[in-house]
Amino acid sequence: MAGAETDLTSPDLSRGFDFADLEAGPPVLGHQDGEPVLLVLVDGEPRAVGASCTHYGGPLAEALVVGGTVRCPWHHACCWLHTGEALAAPALSPLPVWEVEVRDGRVTLGAKQEHAPLSSRGRRAEGPDRVVIVGAGAAGSAAAEWLRREGFEGDVTLVDPDPDVPYDRPNLSKDYLAGTAPEKWIPLRPPGFHLEAGIARVIERVVKLDRGQRRVERRPRRAVGPGGRERRSALRGPCFGTWTEAGFWPWPRSVQTSRAWRRRPRWLAK
Ligand SMILES: Cc1cc2nc3c(=O)[nH]c(=O)nc-3n(C[C@H](O)[C@H](O)[C@H](O)COP(=O)(O)OP(=O)(O)OC[C@H]3O[C@@H](n4cnc5c(N)ncnc54)[C@H](O)[C@@H]3O)c2cc1C
Ligand code: FES
Repeated sequence: MAGAETDLTSPDLSRGFDFADLEAGPPVLGHQDGEPVLLVLVDGEPRAVGASCTHYGGPLAEALVVGGTVRCPWHHACCWLHTGEALAAPALSPLPVWEVEVRDGRVTLGAKQEHAPLSSRGRRAEGPDRVVIVGAGAAGSAAAEWLRREGFEGDVTLVDPDPDVPYDRPNLSKDYLAGTAPEKWIPLRPPGFHLEAGIARVIERVVKLDRGQRRVERRPRRAVGPGGRERRSALRGPCFGTWTEAGFWPWPRSVQTSRAWRRRPRWLAK
């Protein structure tokens, strides 16, 4: 999904910024090397982080800054201003941070530091050997990623019959359905992302959960290819839609159905 544009009319931070102005006013939106940067005072110390939210590029210059965190005004992702670390969904990755120095009353930025989306920052979460997450939508996928961010090294498996997940379903009924957003905006993660993070994907529907026995029962395996490669399967389960003269049109609740609605005949659009 498209994010906020870089505002290059804002102060060029490579020329430095008056510390007194930072102390006196709200966080400053500036730029460095063509990238938007948010300059903020945290406990009297200046901090510099990327000014575009790592979810959909929301404008962090309009964000709430509280308790060492920045909270995106669009969907409330939360990041730690000291390190850029993503603290709460729907932040997809940490924010980049810049080294900051104050000399002769001027704030200047040093090297930029970026962290891998799932970097665990040295933590090592304790827990069971294996976690199975049912549903790999935005929430399920975020849960799996958070386990890796917290340093969990056991097996993580996402089970979902939809081969296109993870994506944010709200997009399906808005710009994408209207044909004003390209399909490349839909996936939350690029192909192979989960595999690289050691998160297994199983494209199946769970039919029974036994929490006592810690068992997940799935429909008989039909859709997972050899070597962990994903193959497409038809979605199953309850389906809501509209009966028309041309048959049944499922409502756009998945990428597959939304894609079909984008190509619907003109008479159905009325
Ligand atoms: C078209 C549309 C528009 C929406 N617009 C908005 C909006 O504007 N604002 C808003 O706040 N919310 C909206 N919603 C609600 C939206 O679904 C949620 O906000 C959000 O996407 C929920 O994310 P989730 O990961 O919790 O659930 P989902 O994205 O629904 O993910 C749940 C996943 O679980 C999987 N699953 C279900 N049953 C099983 C099973 N038995 N076994 C294995 N996997 C299973 C599903 O395939 C699915 O991928 C919209 C929903 C739709 C469908
Ligand atoms: S764009 Fe920031 S939370 Fe969605």
